[in-house]
Amino acid sequence: MKKDKIAKNIEVFPDRSLLSHRGAELFKALLQSNINSKSVFRTALAGGSTPVEMYKILANKPFRSQIEWGKVDIFFGDERLVPLNHADSNFCMANETLLKNISIPKTNIHPVPVSGDKTPDEIACEYETEIRNVFKIYPPDFPVFDLIILGMGKDGHIASLFPETDALQEETKLVVATYPPQYIIPNVPRVTLTLPVILQAKQIIVLIAGKEKAETLRKLFYEEYRHAKLPIQFLLKQPNKVKWLLDIDASPNL
Ligand code: 6PG
Repeated sequence: MKKDKIAKNIEVFPDRSLLSHRGAELFKALLQSNINSKSVFRTALAGGSTPVEMYKILANKPFRSQIEWGKVDIFFGDERLVPLNHADSNFCMANETLLKNISIPKTNIHPVPVSGDKTPDEIACEYETEIRNVFKIYPPDFPVFDLIILGMGKDGHIASLFPETDALQEETKLVVATYPPQYIIPNVPRVTLTLPVILQAKQIIVLIAGKEKAETLRKLFYEEYRHAKLPIQFLLKQPNKVKWLLDIDASPNL
């Protein structure tokens, strides 16, 4: 059974607060272990609502002063193409909960270069260039993020890689533009890291909470592979890199 292969990396919490605190602990531990071996820790943050409490915990005592933020490069796993100060912006959420509350150089923060006078493809291309410049890599090389934080949509999407979309087939680009299905809110164009980038990360933490995710998680762990229909299933290709932080509401039968 798929779940058995990753059981050791699944942690289930009675509530979202304990899940979020564990996420902050893992973030700090991974950073400290990486910083010991090199001078920078490059991470991509998840958007949406689940990570909010974890980011707030990282921005407050004791984590705020325990983490060497000057050695952290922060990217975004995906972004909604709205102004960076818009309530629907993943950057805005991360800035309000974490970034503006920690002492991190502005040059270490890499928002998606959202701009009204560029097309989604142009924005995706610019973000790819930014990532390549920071990681000092050229095609066909892929960046190796130290940590990518993900949530999961009710339809099983990760970042802005939605079910049965061409973006799931992308094998060479780092960042692509995507257009969410009608049921996704906010229904605005997005840019997203691609699967090769996500699966190349040294460590992935997935935060999943809430009753509305339970059926999707059941399919993920107990049904046959349906990758394109359930993008989060791609993470099962890298069982040893993924830490699953779930609350009991999302995983009553795990
Ligand atoms: C986004 C996120 C997305 C999110 C899931 C879960 O831009 O919406 O990156 O992938 O992680 O949709 O969202 P919630 O945490 O709000 O359930």
